[in-house]
Amino acid sequence: MNKIIKKIKNLHIVQNYRNIYPYIKPYWFRSLLAILVTFPVGTMDAIIAWSLKPYMDVVMIEKNLSSSAYVPLLIIVFSVLQSGFNYAAAYLNAWAGAKISNGLKCDLLKKLMRCEAAFFDKNASGLIQARFNTDVDTACSGLLRNVNMVATRIFSSSSLICVLFVNSWQLAVVAMIVLIAALYPLSTIRKRISSIVGKTLFSSAAIATYYIEAFNGNRVIMSYNLYDYQLHRFFDTLEEVFRLGIKMIQRTGILSPMMHSIISVGIAIIIWMGGYLIANHQLTAGGFVSFITAVLLLYQPIKSMGNDVNLVQQSLIAIERVFELLNETPAIIDKPNAVKLESIKNSIEYKNVEFEYVKNKPVLRKVSLKIKVGQTVALVGNSGGGKTTFVNLLPRFYDIKSGNILIDGLDIRDMELDSLRDKIAIVFQDNFLFTGTIRENILLGKRDATAEDLDLAIESACLGEFVKSLDNGLDTEIGERGILLSGGQKQRVAIARAFIKNAPIVILDEATSSLDNKSEAVVQLAIENLMKDRTVFIVAHRLSTVKNADKIVVINHGKIVESGVHSTLIAKKNSAYASLYHMQLT
Ligand SMILES: Nc1ncnc2c1ncn2[C@@H]1O[C@H](COP(=O)(O)OP(=O)(O)O)[C@@H](O)[C@H]1O
Ligand SMILES: [Mg+2]
Repeated sequence: MNKIIKKIKNLHIVQNYRNIYPYIKPYWFRSLLAILVTFPVGTMDAIIAWSLKPYMDVVMIEKNLSSSAYVPLLIIVFSVLQSGFNYAAAYLNAWAGAKISNGLKCDLLKKLMRCEAAFFDKNASGLIQARFNTDVDTACSGLLRNVNMVATRIFSSSSLICVLFVNSWQLAVVAMIVLIAALYPLSTIRKRISSIVGKTLFSSAAIATYYIEAFNGNRVIMSYNLYDYQLHRFFDTLEEVFRLGIKMIQRTGILSPMMHSIISVGIAIIIWMGGYLIANHQLTAGGFVSFITAVLLLYQPIKSMGNDVNLVQQSLIAIERVFELLNETPAIIDKPNAVKLESIKNSIEYKNVEFEYVKNKPVLRKVSLKIKVGQTVALVGNSGGGKTTFVNLLPRFYDIKSGNILIDGLDIRDMELDSLRDKIAIVFQDNFLFTGTIRENILLGKRDATAEDLDLAIESACLGEFVKSLDNGLDTEIGERGILLSGGQKQRVAIARAFIKNAPIVILDEATSSLDNKSEAVVQLAIENLMKDRTVFIVAHRLSTVKNADKIVVINHGKIVESGVHSTLIAKKNSAYASLYHMQLT
């Protein structure tokens, strides 16, 4: 008993129910109906078994047709009804299950999009896919379907057991003993397979990864001729899944034949005892047939019950994992009294900023920098020095460990996050474009932009000519992640997107460094248009592009080692900037 209570506690049913109820609530009526129809579905088998008794006794033995003519009719009516209810159950399950999981999926995506950058650093995309999609389906549709199934089995087996006892309690007791003996091996099945199930899930997920890699990594596979290499690794994983599958069969395959043998012995005993009871007039022939039918019908629901309970358990585990994600508060959110950032009037200041991605591995060490509105600051330095990190702190992709980042004297952590990010346009080295057209991608910067805004953005991003050359112009599809565009074209679409946003702060992080010289020249022009009249942080790999900045800052190993304008830095003795600069010229 204690064991059972513990098991039930482990399912956290109340907690899970409390979590999922808001999602069921809008569809509670259909969900309930889906469970309720299992009652008639479950009891139909018993009714059919039970009606065999009068049929046998009255028609077959007494040869009296008139008083039992209703029996075949009854069977037809009930079978039709059963089919109807089964249909209703399948429909209601699918409907309510999908609606509930859609609600949950929307909330999960909302959550996912609000997760901080560190969350995405930590979690692989495959895992997110599994957590956000597969788990939700298992949790919602699966739960309803499986609860439904278990309920049907319970109604079905309990009503069949009633038929057994109504016909003959002596035989019923024997049948129950046989059933319990036959089912006992099933209760050990969990122990036998639990370790294999875990490994199988893991390997099966690995199989999916190979398809994803074949898709996303196809260029690399082609250029390094990785066909055989990938195929071998894939084959090894397949073999592993095969090995586990066989192991599973070895451990479970014996159970079914074993149950069959026990049941056969049981039926033999029942037939022998039944004959005895009939001879002693304790049982009619019809009662006996009805009894045997009920025993046979009982076998299926009872056999499947263990499996179905396991499935319910899996759904509950999935719910738990989903809500673990859903109930987590994102690390970077608005404070209760957050202030809306309306405009930027004076300055942006980094004050003794310390930051680390990993505990005790400082990436920025007491960095201070102040720039006035309208100025351009260029960040240069060795790779890995912390330039990208520095600029990513301003839109709060990450929060700093200590110090302050202030806009007009107000800490950015005291501002409304959305209003802060509204003021910043960013162009990265590798910009994510969404599936859709050029127009749609540019308008992401400002969804209510006018036609003039759009034209201006396109001209400023030097996209005009390119767009004109396309048959479909702005409505040309750019493919997944913009794969149909060249590097320079992609970059200019990203610049147009940033331009149309018309944000007072612009961050450019190595925006031209992945381009060839020719595309770089035109993207450079687009960037200069974007920088006009704004406060700009530019991280540049080529120093020729930063010469005109109001301030040049050299960041090495997380520290600002030098700052000033080009002419003074270059003239300084032992200047880090000068050595970087001369290194690039040679
Ligand atoms: N998401 C991250 N998680 C952990 N460490 C990171 C992450 N991004 C960058 N780093 C580390 O922080 C340091 C600074 O990186 P970064 O700011 O990208 O340098 P830069 O842009 O100057 O080349 C590097 O040592 C890098 O390995
Ligand atoms: Mg960088």
